[in-house]
Amino acid sequence: MMNNSYSINRLILTNYRSYEKLRIDANDIKNIIITGDNGAGKTNILEAISMLSMSGPFRKAKLHQLGKIGSPDSTFTISSEIKTNEDILHLGLSYNYNNAVKSVYYDDDNDTENEISERRQIIVDNMNIQVSELQNFIRVVWITPFMDRLFSEATSERRKFLDNLICNFYPFYGVSLTQYSNLLKQRSKILKKQTYDEKWLDAIENEIAEKGVSIAALRIEFEEKLNKILGENKTNFPTIQIKIEGNIEDKLKGAKSVDVEEYFRQILKKNRELFKYSFSPAVEGIHRSDFSAINMDKGISADQTSTGEQKCTVISIILAYCNMLYLYFNKYPIILIDEAPAHLDDIRVKDLFTELEKIPTQIWLTGILKSDFDFFNDKNSLFIEIEHSSIK
Ligand SMILES: Nc1ncnc2c1ncn2[C@@H]1O[C@H](COP(=O)(O)OP(=O)(O)OP(=O)(O)O)[C@@H](O)[C@H]1O
Ligand SMILES: [Mg+2]
Repeated sequence: MMNNSYSINRLILTNYRSYEKLRIDANDIKNIIITGDNGAGKTNILEAISMLSMSGPFRKAKLHQLGKIGSPDSTFTISSEIKTNEDILHLGLSYNYNNAVKSVYYDDDNDTENEISERRQIIVDNMNIQVSELQNFIRVVWITPFMDRLFSEATSERRKFLDNLICNFYPFYGVSLTQYSNLLKQRSKILKKQTYDEKWLDAIENEIAEKGVSIAALRIEFEEKLNKILGENKTNFPTIQIKIEGNIEDKLKGAKSVDVEEYFRQILKKNRELFKYSFSPAVEGIHRSDFSAINMDKGISADQTSTGEQKCTVISIILAYCNMLYLYFNKYPIILIDEAPAHLDDIRVKDLFTELEKIPTQIWLTGILKSDFDFFNDKNSLFIEIEHSSIK
């Protein structure tokens, strides 16, 4: 049935969030439907699955806060049996707080050194692997309630959404982004000092420009590929076209890479001056880019549409993206949809379920009411109703 996809045969959570121990057996099951009241632990399960993919977890969270509160330490494990075609592999992820505190990392938000490592330890069939290698073993995409107002949200949320999609498509894209952001931090540290070696700064800015333009080039390539598939839309969801908005990307669409690198270098050079007047002046670049989505059926931008319509836009993009992964890698990803029916009217819920049923891959859905998922009663589905463990 699911020859061109991955599926989770078994999932075991230990000390993860609200679960001391949870085991789900889903051998060859296509649809896993998890229902229960608020706080029952539905999102926690999907979040755990998202951790098995490169761009997870899908909720902003620090790894050292994911271990079950009250357990002796913040150590947790997510272990799974994954089926790809006829191959079965064991993918395990653990976070060990006691080991982790010994290392040092750079905090994304504060540019400060933090003592707690946020590194996931991943083992595939007894072999340690890097997070960036995960996509050789599993791909997961998701739609969460946080995306319901994606197009009215701050730029950074949209950029993250798009970057996540691109990360799963180009294996080295995520690594490039991390390198780029580290270079920016390095640059700003140097500039905050009163005196610095100008040659050193030149070299770093040069690297930022080169890396930045190569990232922009991948974004443009991705935009083209995705738009082509979005344009072939055969679903009842809106036909969407996306457009990346960024100064570097804009320039690169009409110029040679070397010229755009030079343009970027000039921006960085000019920006140095601002450090005299401000502690941390913003600098333009691919780390500030955004994207917009045009609803071609209505001829308007997605940010002008309603909440439910915005969710439909996200659905269109994710469905097209699944087809894109299939086209290029011959495999559909596992799809997670948290609060699948939320904001959607009855017709659109049915349209969504119909589309999901057509894709030969494993789907994990959550919702409050089991009766909202009657569509799946006569299909290959597993229903999990979570009892509210501690109503307070
Ligand atoms: N580290 C943790 N340790 C213990 N419990 C936690 C931890 N993190 C979150 N929780 C609890 O897990 C519970 C379930 O959360 P979850 O987000 O999965 O609920 P949900 O079923 O998706 O609810 P909703 O319908 O409101 O979205 C919450 O009550 C939350 O407080
Ligand atoms: Mg939830």
